[in-house]
Amino acid sequence: MNIPVLTIDGPSGAGKGTVSRAVAKKLGWNYLDSGSIYRSLAIAALNQSADLEDEAAIADIARGMVLEFDCGDELVVRLDGEDITAQLGLESTGYAASIVAALPEVRQVLLQKQKDFKRLPGLVADGRDMGTVVFPEAENKVFLTASAAERAKRRYKQLIEKGIDANLAQITTEIEERDRRDMERKTSPLTMSSDALYIDSSDMPLNAVIEEVLNLIR
Ligand code: C5P
Repeated sequence: MNIPVLTIDGPSGAGKGTVSRAVAKKLGWNYLDSGSIYRSLAIAALNQSADLEDEAAIADIARGMVLEFDCGDELVVRLDGEDITAQLGLESTGYAASIVAALPEVRQVLLQKQKDFKRLPGLVADGRDMGTVVFPEAENKVFLTASAAERAKRRYKQLIEKGIDANLAQITTEIEERDRRDMERKTSPLTMSSDALYIDSSDMPLNAVIEEVLNLIR
């Protein structure tokens, strides 16, 4: 049985999460937020005070961690039974995630966990290497990006709206550093699959992006 897959890859802050969730909801498909798997691993590693660059140690933690995703109206993630949802979205978690995500053995260990999300009636998969490595067979692929300045501005607005103190210059620097790490790593770097639809959302409202992605499926 052919299970349809739509992959949405791109740098952090391009709107992948919002677009993927909206499209999955509209289509009634499952949703894989692959970044949250790397983020959960980072939390597990930090909890154990492990060295984030120790490939064998981090791969062991990845093998042993039990993750549960509760995809109700609000996503709830449990790591070894403990609710880690609040920590998941922190900038520091994303930053640590990009360090463990650069380790080849870690990516290998997490590959099957991600493939397991491919279930009927379909899957929307969001990340960096969904269309290139995890689901190369997907018939619909999108590469969603925006300028670093625009992505930093969106992130800044999100944090301020949540009542979290933020600094735009610092967010811009962190986004640029995370982009560099994600694009320059040897294993599964962030690149556009040659068969993906390229969307630059810098000057587009996200509902226009959602429409464009839905049109691709239709
Ligand atoms: O998308 P998100 O910001 O949650 O991802 C956090 C980090 O996890 C990224 O900066 C990236 O280093 C890593 N990641 C990855 N491959 C994916 C998804 C996320 O390497 N498919």
